Amino acid sequence: MDPTTLIGPSSPLGYPAPYWFLVFFKVLGFTLHMIPMHLWYTGILLAMLLQWRGGEEMQRLSRRLMRPMPIVIALGINFGIVPLLFTQVAYYKVFYPATILMAWPWVSIILLLTLAYYGVYIYVAGLRSEGATPARWRQAVGWVTAALFLLIGFFFSNAFSLMTNVRAWPDLWLRESVAGAPLGTALNTDDPTLWPRWLMMFALALTTTAVFITVDAEWLASREGAEYRATARRVAFTVSTLGVIGFALTGSWYVFGTWPEEVRAAMMHGPMRALTGLTALGPGLPWLLILWQWRRGGTRARAAATALAQVLVLALNAISRQIVQNVELRRFLDVTAEPVHIQWSPLILFLLLFAAGLGVVAWLLGQLRTAESPSG
Ligand code: HEM
Repeated sequence: MDPTTLIGPSSPLGYPAPYWFLVFFKVLGFTLHMIPMHLWYTGILLAMLLQWRGGEEMQRLSRRLMRPMPIVIALGINFGIVPLLFTQVAYYKVFYPATILMAWPWVSIILLLTLAYYGVYIYVAGLRSEGATPARWRQAVGWVTAALFLLIGFFFSNAFSLMTNVRAWPDLWLRESVAGAPLGTALNTDDPTLWPRWLMMFALALTTTAVFITVDAEWLASREGAEYRATARRVAFTVSTLGVIGFALTGSWYVFGTWPEEVRAAMMHGPMRALTGLTALGPGLPWLLILWQWRRGGTRARAAATALAQVLVLALNAISRQIVQNVELRRFLDVTAEPVHIQWSPLILFLLLFAAGLGVVAWLLGQLRTAESPSG
């Protein structure tokens, strides 16, 4: 069966904005989504491990990771909407078939995320009412919450790898359907890119969490003692090292073990080689900065430089994965070739709301600072 027959038809409305506009906000939105998403992806698991096995200062670090989590999740979900919107507008022909094939896991994200969000609140409420060590049942909730976020991340990796794995659709459809009606129970687990991709995002998330610990120690933890800050720098270095090693291993597996020939040809030649190289080596820069702060002591300026370097790393990652996504789809469809009928009113409304949204984010970040309370 020709897989292109399962690709959605063109919308007679065309694109409501030029492709460059759609893809710019898709990549920008995903970069912004990744920052908070990484914190709950690995930060909650790390907080649970530190609470379970760490000494006094590490448990303090665990609490410092968990306390702002409700705001971090609110931020990350809102930023996630931006790339989702532009994916639905510019990649609808492949996004919808893929998420119909895996409809149940995809829709279950709403339930899983709601439960995970409650889980975070239950844990953080325990930190407020029960002090340094939340009750055992709340700790159990914390572990389940960390696992739920890993599962949600797995479903996201499935959805976005299946979206470009058009070749696999007919088999999945025939296997997981009744009388031609898809059951919505498919997953993209036969795709060799899925596993390194999922793990690579986890490793990258570790590096972002390490940067957050560094920034928190210098900018937000003014009431904590020097001993705490030394512990935070040491933990940040350990977590960053694990992340960088994990990224190198899973990234090599992804690139050298699973990239099809057309992706390799596109990403390993000409100017793209520089982008691929920078994306691969990028996490080394924040790692070096964190190492420097661990050995020589931290300052606010050093922590800010580390955060800036990490944002750059994530932006490079988002740009590279966008190019890979287009190359993977190229043999089936050219996403840049749709007719454009600019719809000015939603476009202007989006830009206004986006600017207003960034203002709200600035306010939320201000809340994070004022929410800083004496260590409990
Ligand atoms: C309603 C909330 C969320 C929305 C709207 C959202 C949206 C998105 C979008 C659109 C992408 C793909 C971006 C692109 O390829 O350009 C993405 C990727 C991702 N999201 Fe989220 N997200 C949400 C919540 C979460 C949660 C709770 C997690 C849990 C860890 C998560 C983990 C991920 C991961 C791991 C990826 C990368 C998947 C891959 O391509 O391998 N997201 N998200």
